[in-house]
Amino acid sequence: MTAPSTTRAIRVPGDKSISHRALICAALAGGRSRIRHILPSADVHSTATVLRSLGVSIPLLGDDVRIDGRGLSGLTAPTEPLDCGNSGTTARLMSGVLSAHPFVSRLIGDESLSRRPMARVSRPLAAMGATFAFGTGEHLPMVITGGPLQPLEWANPTSSAQVKSAILLAGLVAGVPVSITEPVRSRDHTERMLGALGVELRSCGGHAALTPATELASFQLDVPADPSSAAFLAGLAAAGGVRAGGPLELTDVALNPTRLGFFRVLREMGADVSWEVEREECGEPVGTITVAPRALAGVRVRAEQVPAMIDELPLLACLATRAEGETEIRGAGELRVKESDRITAVVQNLRAVGAEAEELPDGLRVRGTRGSLGGTIRAHGDHRLAMAFGILGAISGGAIDVDDRACVSVSYPGFWPDLARVTA
Ligand code: S3P
Repeated sequence: MTAPSTTRAIRVPGDKSISHRALICAALAGGRSRIRHILPSADVHSTATVLRSLGVSIPLLGDDVRIDGRGLSGLTAPTEPLDCGNSGTTARLMSGVLSAHPFVSRLIGDESLSRRPMARVSRPLAAMGATFAFGTGEHLPMVITGGPLQPLEWANPTSSAQVKSAILLAGLVAGVPVSITEPVRSRDHTERMLGALGVELRSCGGHAALTPATELASFQLDVPADPSSAAFLAGLAAAGGVRAGGPLELTDVALNPTRLGFFRVLREMGADVSWEVEREECGEPVGTITVAPRALAGVRVRAEQVPAMIDELPLLACLATRAEGETEIRGAGELRVKESDRITAVVQNLRAVGAEAEELPDGLRVRGTRGSLGGTIRAHGDHRLAMAFGILGAISGGAIDVDDRACVSVSYPGFWPDLARVTA
């Protein structure tokens, strides 16, 4: 007789995208805002540091943060370079805000961020009237001279929430109408938050348009848990890696449909996954995701599915090694310009642990195996690679060593203890 499996519940830390936006909106708001359960990770600290250098008083990021906003154009000229660390979201969203402020700022970042493309934000923001100067190529360091801006209608060739948000924030601060169209709607947290704070914003499919506002209301926000962090433990549970093989409940998670692509694909693979909305927070649906183990089958991920699961693709590739048959991911060329080239790095690491994987120009192919996998993987300082292979190690029967475990601090500082808790 087997013992009945018990349901385990866990709340992963606050959503990274919503945490960045909450800090920026609180800084631009007209009064005191209160943010609970903000994600205290390295990336969010970068946004806080940059805002402090611009005159905003932000306390140490804890469970209950109060911020006095400086109004829509109240930031002050920085006296030092603005260090965005490893955070593309900080660099790109803040470039929109800074383009509309009448001073010069210099944005810098770590080695990985200094390799990532910034032309995607400098082009539309320059078309609005800001001036950009780069050292070499269109990478950080990037010097922005802001000032009065023109309205903009922008058609973006790729789906990117960072580009969309930079344009919306520039329009908001400058007081000019802006609109942006992208092939498939990217995560829409900026639209939802600005809408909840009184800004007139129309959004439909891949189109978003902002009407100028005179002020941004201060707010109270309890940041829901990050679905991208929850995805790691959901993948673990789907593959039967949770102790006693029982179901896992991931509570208080942001259930924004533009973030749930991984969970939808996991279901297509045959996994037992469901979610239920319980409340709303600043325009964001929030609730519980439940995952139980079941045999997984390979899947085809198409270009239009990619934006809603862009950060979860390394994890999906790792899970695909445990699925019956082949998995193919296409239309995911954006993975090459993330914290690492995630296509090359995932394929090399899968091969290093004994899995069959093939690199494609815009994605990858993985063949499932029942054999145990083991070896050492190189995370390239990329938090999502470290965690994806951490999960693979927990479900693959072999030992997988991650060369840089500490880089998870970028988005999920407690990842290793949480993994130990649900597998122990
Ligand atoms: C983010 C947008 C996405 C995502 C990143 C966070 C955001 O990047 O990969 O982790 O908070 O806006 P892109 O806008 O480049 O797709």
